[in-house]
Amino acid sequence: MSEGNAKAGLARRAAVVEAYLSTCLRGRDIPERLLASEEYSLLGGGKRLRPALALSFARLFGAAEAAVLPFAASLELIHTYSLIHDDLPAMDDDDLRRGRPSNHKQFDEPTAILAGDGLLTESFCLMFSCAENGRVPAERVLRAARTVAAAAGSGGMVGGQVLDMEYTARPGVSLDELRVMHAKKTGALITAACVAGAQLAGADENGVARAREYGAHLGAAFQIADDILDVVGDTKTLGKPVGSDERQGKTTYPSLVGLDESRRLAAERAGLARAALDGLDGVDIVVTDEAEFLRALARYIVERVN
Ligand code: IPE
Ligand code: IPE
Ligand code: MG
Ligand code: MG
Ligand code: MG
Repeated sequence: MSEGNAKAGLARRAAVVEAYLSTCLRGRDIPERLLASEEYSLLGGGKRLRPALALSFARLFGAAEAAVLPFAASLELIHTYSLIHDDLPAMDDDDLRRGRPSNHKQFDEPTAILAGDGLLTESFCLMFSCAENGRVPAERVLRAARTVAAAAGSGGMVGGQVLDMEYTARPGVSLDELRVMHAKKTGALITAACVAGAQLAGADENGVARAREYGAHLGAAFQIADDILDVVGDTKTLGKPVGSDERQGKTTYPSLVGLDESRRLAAERAGLARAALDGLDGVDIVVTDEAEFLRALARYIVERVN
């Protein structure tokens, strides 16, 4: 499968997720301004990478896409909350997100903070809804939800964001420190998307381990590419400000090892993500075209322009 097909495959899954997201907060008795703020960020574009990974790993191991869709979509609520908070003046202080004013610019800071809180909490309603009507066995949903909670929380994404803040403008951040920070702030949720998808499908231990390895490498490649795009990207294509990292004094891969070495490292991690899937034999994989998609996606992720 070519990179072009990876982009199309991601777009197809994103459209399925998009349709679900557009209704998932309705009928919840949410105050009007809060709902407007939550939907402004949730429905304002985005690649929908994390839900696509969850859908793909679930299908790879034999689950029906429709059965796990609310769970997959819940990852986008968590991701969107993290972006709203990441853009706040107290954090990266960025005014543009997904091609539009950041949430706190369009609304205000209290609303943006609370919209993030609301999205994070609602995400668990969506996850647990997958256990209703026996769509997915409850013990699988519990296991997958625990995976996501641990990855999104203090030992994962939130912890990584704290390290990012600590390292900002601190001289002498090492490559090892940067690697750990990336693994937490970005890698943890991407890995959880892959692992939870496998767990929802009832994958065996080897399947879950391969999903974890793929996700960890993909997440690393993805954040290195994000750092590169912050230097060489185009604001219009990217939908967020270029040069934000340098302005803030962030330590990034390009600032530490230069652009060429960053590109090499991103490609290396993408290669390791692809290789992780080689550890699945024909018995583990139920749907082989999903493995093809995931391999192509690992290539695409480092060549993307947004
Ligand atoms: C941006 O994530 C923040 C990072 C973790 C690097 P994405 O690049 O997935 O953002 P959207 O969802 O497509 O806007
Ligand atoms: C954000 O990393 C990681 C998150 C958990 C949101 P960045 O700060 O580099 O993400 P962008 O570049 O603003 O999307
Ligand atoms: Mg940030
Ligand atoms: Mg940022
Ligand atoms: Mg960035």
